[in-house]
Amino acid sequence: MIRKLTLSALTAFTLSSGGVLAAGAAGHVEDFAFSFEGPFGTYDQLQLQRGLKVYTEVCSACHGLKYVPIRTLADPGGPELPEDQVRAYARELAPVALPDGDERARETSDPFPGSGLETAPDLSLMTKARSGFHGPYGLGINQFLRGIGGPEYLASILTGYTGVEKEEAGTTFYENTAFPGGWIAMAPPLSDGQVEFDDGHGNSLHQMSEDVTAFLMWAAEPKMMARKQAGFTAVIFLTILTVLLYLTNKRLWAGIKGKKHA
Ligand code: HEC
Repeated sequence: MIRKLTLSALTAFTLSSGGVLAAGAAGHVEDFAFSFEGPFGTYDQLQLQRGLKVYTEVCSACHGLKYVPIRTLADPGGPELPEDQVRAYARELAPVALPDGDERARETSDPFPGSGLETAPDLSLMTKARSGFHGPYGLGINQFLRGIGGPEYLASILTGYTGVEKEEAGTTFYENTAFPGGWIAMAPPLSDGQVEFDDGHGNSLHQMSEDVTAFLMWAAEPKMMARKQAGFTAVIFLTILTVLLYLTNKRLWAGIKGKKHA
């Protein structure tokens, strides 16, 4: 049995490291300290609001969030915008196309619009779809130690431009230290001071990248905080149950185990 397990583990190891090599050079992912990391991490409501602003003013020109319902912007644990602001926000977005060729105003019950630019992927699940931190041979050890790294990957892309570009087959590629392969077809979307925040919050490239990434993490995983709480309650419950079972066990066997053998 042990031999079989060792063999299959070895095979999986060889296969996966081969896969990583075949996929080409992985990019370099920086470690960012996000508020939602760790077992007790929570979203920072004001950061999510700033991220929504960056997304709306910059990213939504090309990208979409077609799996995220607009009404969730008011949900507890999210950006928690007041209902009237969410309604006003929905009306500002691109109208919904109807099957008969007509269009109507976007409601809060609709999702965000999809990608406007065909080559720009939808960002609804991007922070979950990508991971960073694979560790040596793609073993995922770093994921264990530093989190899945999807948000880190995204923020690293936004901050990872070197400023060098090249043209190939009519497309411009931009050198990026985080993107696998090193060249991405997205022009650097953010630069220092690009988006102004009402509360005068810092808007360096680094800060805005963190803010928009936090917002996209919430978009992909809006119930993370509730899930962590449920997990924590389960751990407490199981601990109490373990103690009770241990004491019950002791008591049940006390008569027999206490006896001395003749
Ligand atoms: C001018 C259009 C444009 C804007 C604005 C833009 N993007 Fe992109 N983005 C693209 C295109 C095109 C790609 C596909 C690049 C590729 O595959 O080489 C892309 C790819 C991405 C990817 C995927 C990387 C991967 O691993 O496949 C992420 C993440 C991303 N963009 C995030 C953002 C964020 C966040 C913003 C706003 C701060 C933004 N983008 C603004 C055009 C844009």
